[in-house]
Amino acid sequence: MTRLPDDRRRTLAARIGLVRSMERGSVVLSARLAEAFLNVPREPFVPVFYRRDGDRFTPWGRTDADADAWLAQVYSDDSLITEVDRVHAEDAGPRSITGVPTSSSTAPSLMADMLDALDVRRGTRVLEIGTGTGYNAALLCWLAGADSVTTVDSSERLTTTAEARLRACGPAPTVRCADGAEGAPGEARFDRVIATCSVRRIPAAWFDQCVPGGLLVVPLKGVLAGGALARLQKLPDGTAVGRILHTPAAFMPLLSGSRRTPKIPESVAGGRQRASKVSGSVLDDWTFSFFAQLHMPAGTVRDYHREPDGAHVTTLYDPMDDSYARIADRASEAGATVVTSGGRDLWKPLEEAHERWLTLHRPRREWFTVNATPDKQTVSYAAPDGRTWDWDL
Ligand SMILES: C[S@@+](CC[C@H](N)C(=O)[O-])C[C@H]1O[C@@H](n2cnc3c(N)ncnc32)[C@H](O)[C@@H]1O
Repeated sequence: MTRLPDDRRRTLAARIGLVRSMERGSVVLSARLAEAFLNVPREPFVPVFYRRDGDRFTPWGRTDADADAWLAQVYSDDSLITEVDRVHAEDAGPRSITGVPTSSSTAPSLMADMLDALDVRRGTRVLEIGTGTGYNAALLCWLAGADSVTTVDSSERLTTTAEARLRACGPAPTVRCADGAEGAPGEARFDRVIATCSVRRIPAAWFDQCVPGGLLVVPLKGVLAGGALARLQKLPDGTAVGRILHTPAAFMPLLSGSRRTPKIPESVAGGRQRASKVSGSVLDDWTFSFFAQLHMPAGTVRDYHREPDGAHVTTLYDPMDDSYARIADRASEAGATVVTSGGRDLWKPLEEAHERWLTLHRPRREWFTVNATPDKQTVSYAAPDGRTWDWDL
């Protein structure tokens, strides 16, 4: 028997370890998916990524001194941040930086859940929005065949790099640099559409480019933390129906056009203070956070941070009418106080959502359905008492 070089042996062992760790508990990957994760390497797509320490990000590439630790991280079931404020980890030099992550390689078990929901067979035509590192595209190529896969990212730095790395690994898919909100450039139609960046509403182009009977797997996320995955099937009449999946998913948002996220004012003059019915920490529960999101005004933005005295501070702001709500939770204080100002009390929809959530016995996200027509996208919950609740996205 030929002996594999040590390096290759270590890499294969790490890859097998990853698949084992993804299968912990009651999760079992399908044979096709396990095969894909065992055969497609992750390390060529993430030679350098950021290590996070609080709000600082430090690039980490493999060195002789820490090769094992680096490889263990590459094959951990974690997301690996590769870009912060569009500065690629490979361009950052040794310094650490602060900012907002703009690209990453998704946690493998989340990728597996999405690929499983996408139901990809050989020859299935797939469009991926959000090429990032190219690792998910490489898995799609394994499952569908490279000729059937198109992947789009809005960053040329990312598409150029990912395309070169995909080519180095084998037959490459079609890689395009474009605004994924418009789907893939050209007239192509796909049996499957998967997004690896989140949207509040699913862009019309994704439905248009999906054939009737085809499937879409899309991360839905608004301003609150509780992102979710929607799986929809396109129907012959052009509408689509589906469900929210059980897996929580906080993907970075699809950035489209020149619209910038509005800046939340540091403080406001003349705020009204009142006792809150709920603590800001209710949003730490992602199932509630998903439910609460359905009740929030579309333009609301949110900031969440911890103060030096340990207080958890949540701020909501709607630039439309300068509505503002700020709540600080301190373990030492019973009850929470919310400060609001502007046209509306922005904390109220959240309190109402919490009351409704308890009345409905904390419905789980996978109990919700999604319907989309060309003009309207709705999330619904059919309660066992016969009532149906609908929310427009
Ligand atoms: C979580 S990463 C994608 C991970 C990727 N699938 C992988 O395997 O590495 C999200 C990606 O969405 C991309 N993105 C954000 N806005 C976009 C847009 N309007 N069109 C296309 N891609 C976009 C980002 O550049 C980023 O690379």
